[in-house]
Amino acid sequence: RKTAPMPMDILGQKGGTPIVSLTAYTTPMAEVMDGVCDFVLVGDSVGMVLHGLASTLDVTMEMMILHGQAVRRGLSRSMLVVDMPFSSYEQSPEQAFANAAILMRETGAGAVKLEGGQVMAETIAFLTQRGIPVMAHIGLTPQSIHTLGGYKVQGRGDTGDQLMADAKAVAEAGAFAVVLEKVPESLADQITRDVPIPTIGIGASAKCDGQILVVDDMLGLFTAFKAKFVKRYAYLGDEAKVAVLAYADEVKARAFPGPEHVFADQVSET
Ligand code: KIV
Ligand code: NA
Repeated sequence: RKTAPMPMDILGQKGGTPIVSLTAYTTPMAEVMDGVCDFVLVGDSVGMVLHGLASTLDVTMEMMILHGQAVRRGLSRSMLVVDMPFSSYEQSPEQAFANAAILMRETGAGAVKLEGGQVMAETIAFLTQRGIPVMAHIGLTPQSIHTLGGYKVQGRGDTGDQLMADAKAVAEAGAFAVVLEKVPESLADQITRDVPIPTIGIGASAKCDGQILVVDDMLGLFTAFKAKFVKRYAYLGDEAKVAVLAYADEVKARAFPGPEHVFADQVSET
């Protein structure tokens, strides 16, 4: 890609070449993805994968702003989407607008993402009618683990109808895409065929219009646990451990720093 897509461009990819996306939280990782991903999400997963929090419930607006600004500096050819953190939007459409506007102004994001289906439809309509593009997120919504009862597969059996209704409601409310997290393949396929906006799957099969993964999961940097839907494309955590151990050995053996890392008295080098 040569220029960053807009939400309308993502919408236009419905049914076409699958939409590529990952999360990022830092400038250098954003630079790696720039122009490769259609959009980059600063997910509230940042709380768990970078800050060691037990869930996403403790993530704050301040964290989303700081990481959003860092990622924005690394992107010129991918769209930036920033997650709205828990308790920043659920209370009312007005609360959601105020905080979404702060996130967009402070980070330069092209859109915000928020969790919830039918229950958030009014809020999604309120934001989109006022200039804030919204990506919805349904199925497993980690900000609701306490009411969902854990990180379980969503939409199996009878509850599939509710999830279909959620997908239709967010599309009708004006969301330009919807993340489907941890839902059975058959339901993801049905939702993808029945709603007019792109579905972005995570644990929702290749039937979706696009995919997203948490970058630290796919690079093997976050290893506290691995969801079934995660594929590890690299093992950077293991590589980092090897490097740190080698450094420790060399420091103790006075093998590092070597002659090439040391400054002499008289030469003109700096
Ligand atoms: O916070 C996050 O990383 C997300 C994606 C997994 C969709 O919401
Ligand atoms: Na999230």
